Amino acid sequence: MNNRITNLSEYTQAYDKSVENPEQFWEEIAETFQWQKRWDNVLDWNFKDPDVKWFVNGKLNITENLLDRHLEKRGDQIAILWEPNDPKEAHQEITYRELHEKVCQFSNALLAQGIGKGDRVIIYMPMVPEATVAMLACARIGAVHSVVFAGFSATALADRATDCQAKMILTADGNYRGSKSIPVKSVVDKALEKCDCVEGVIVFQRTNTEVNMKEGRDVWWHESIEGISKEYAAEVMDSEDLLFILYTSGSTGKPKGVVHTCGGYMIYTYYSFLNVFQYDEGDVYWCTADIGWITGHSYIVYGPLLAGATTLMFEGVPTFPDAGRFWEVCDKHQVNQFYTAPTAIRALEACGLEFVEPYKLDSLKVIGSVGEPINEEAWHWYHEHVGKRNCPLVDTWWQTETGGIMISALAGIIPVKPAHASLPLPGIQPIIVDRNGNEITGKNVQGNLCIKFPWPSILRTTYGDHERCRLTYFTTYENLYATGDGAKRDHDGYIRILGRVDDVMNISGHRMGTAEVENAIDEHLQVIESAVVGYPHDIKGQGIYAFVICENASDNIKEEIRSKVSEIIGSIAKPDKIQVVPGLPKTRSGKIMRRILRKIAAGESDQLGDTSTLLNPEVVEAIVLGAEV
Ligand code: WTA
Repeated sequence: MNNRITNLSEYTQAYDKSVENPEQFWEEIAETFQWQKRWDNVLDWNFKDPDVKWFVNGKLNITENLLDRHLEKRGDQIAILWEPNDPKEAHQEITYRELHEKVCQFSNALLAQGIGKGDRVIIYMPMVPEATVAMLACARIGAVHSVVFAGFSATALADRATDCQAKMILTADGNYRGSKSIPVKSVVDKALEKCDCVEGVIVFQRTNTEVNMKEGRDVWWHESIEGISKEYAAEVMDSEDLLFILYTSGSTGKPKGVVHTCGGYMIYTYYSFLNVFQYDEGDVYWCTADIGWITGHSYIVYGPLLAGATTLMFEGVPTFPDAGRFWEVCDKHQVNQFYTAPTAIRALEACGLEFVEPYKLDSLKVIGSVGEPINEEAWHWYHEHVGKRNCPLVDTWWQTETGGIMISALAGIIPVKPAHASLPLPGIQPIIVDRNGNEITGKNVQGNLCIKFPWPSILRTTYGDHERCRLTYFTTYENLYATGDGAKRDHDGYIRILGRVDDVMNISGHRMGTAEVENAIDEHLQVIESAVVGYPHDIKGQGIYAFVICENASDNIKEEIRSKVSEIIGSIAKPDKIQVVPGLPKTRSGKIMRRILRKIAAGESDQLGDTSTLLNPEVVEAIVLGAEV
């Protein structure tokens, strides 16, 4: 396949070229695609404003490139292989031709419901093929999708819909998760009590759960496409028109809407997918993420479909009907590339080898990891029992903001090393800097990870608040994109990601800001103040530890706090441990000393260092005595 690197020296050549002449490098890859109008110049950029534009004035539609472009050669090839939650239900195979029809038809349905270019549409759906159809139909008509993970609460959904002033929500009646069926539409109803920008809701019927349909606002998906044409010529989009907004947590305030645009995102997700996973014609590729996260966007939907792959989409959970489900699905569909998160690996490892041993797993060629640092033990278990020591394990480091994989081995081409993301992809120029932003060169060094040159899928802004984008990513160090992660470069020049250097936690691979959880906890009437930190957790990577000061705490205070957090954010943000404390350690200027709380939460109270300069050193002892470890 064109654009695919096939050996180490090609990687080195591609990398060198991408640094010496980035514009020519990316232009050649962009030529793979159909453009309605060619770009005037490849790249305009500065990291000061910031202002980054790729393929300037180029016109295209990403769905023409991932659907229409493939029809002639692979119209009858499976595009989406869908595996339902319940293994007793039939799986679905949707060819490129069928997907094209579904997307065109739903595009027409959206238009008929009053949605047009530039409108924002929230997608709050389970992992069904229609969720992908929904994303692509938005892209086809030029509407901007914002997928919200279906586990988020009504309040979180309302906040996101309000922030982007969404005009429509696409949803479903319910969501099957293992043995449970979770209502979804009723969450949307609740959210809509709090936001008035949304004019219409389209509801896909999945679980046959009874729902309230509001006259004049809500329509069924199947009714919306009744008698609707399956042809629709894609809207012509500018390279820099918005493709989607995806909300993600930061260290302060509410989640921000990371913006990705059409042209650059298309090129980079395609190129990185092809090269990291070394996708071959006819392979079956499976990424277990949810489409509510960036991994689902870039590596279930856009990257694989742009490359003409067969992408498996799984509705269920790893432990239903038992902890062998992933491996059963791999054998059933003869999966060739498998991409999951360390937290899933650790959870399955804990269930025992009897769940993996019955499966052959001999179709696997590549296994991948994403979302959080993978510890060496999980790495070895995954490599040995899933990959059978035969499959390169690619540990892929990237972020919602980067749009695509930044640092990773290319499977079978760059030798791997446990727990190391390894080397940058062509086009990616990472550097490690000290606290003052000075580059730390050489080997065996560590510091803050930054990127010094734009790549095509870098975020363009945070929706509705460009200043926030500038302050968050581009002012920590001059002229650099600051990732918020710490990293180490070892003696071989391999990069190992050390985790966040800011107040962002990573809970089972999900990003969660400490401030966000604190704000939710503080909504409880008996809570006076709270401080949240992450602590090492065997399965989740990090767990959430909340220290709370309460007034007249009731016996059930911990449960009440958990349900408050669930109500405001979603159950993924529920603290694992809650400790009611008499006070929080503060500096003389009133700042909470998180460093001390992190140590206590990690069970390292013997390493607190000097606490005598605190405003209230006496509370430390009381907290240590009552700590939940
Ligand atoms: C962390 C997920 C170590 C990191 C694609 C980053 C990782 C944050 C890895 C982004 C990895 C992601 N090794 N850490 N392979 N991949 N991270 O936006 O801290 O949900 O900043 O994107 O996850 O999380 P996000």
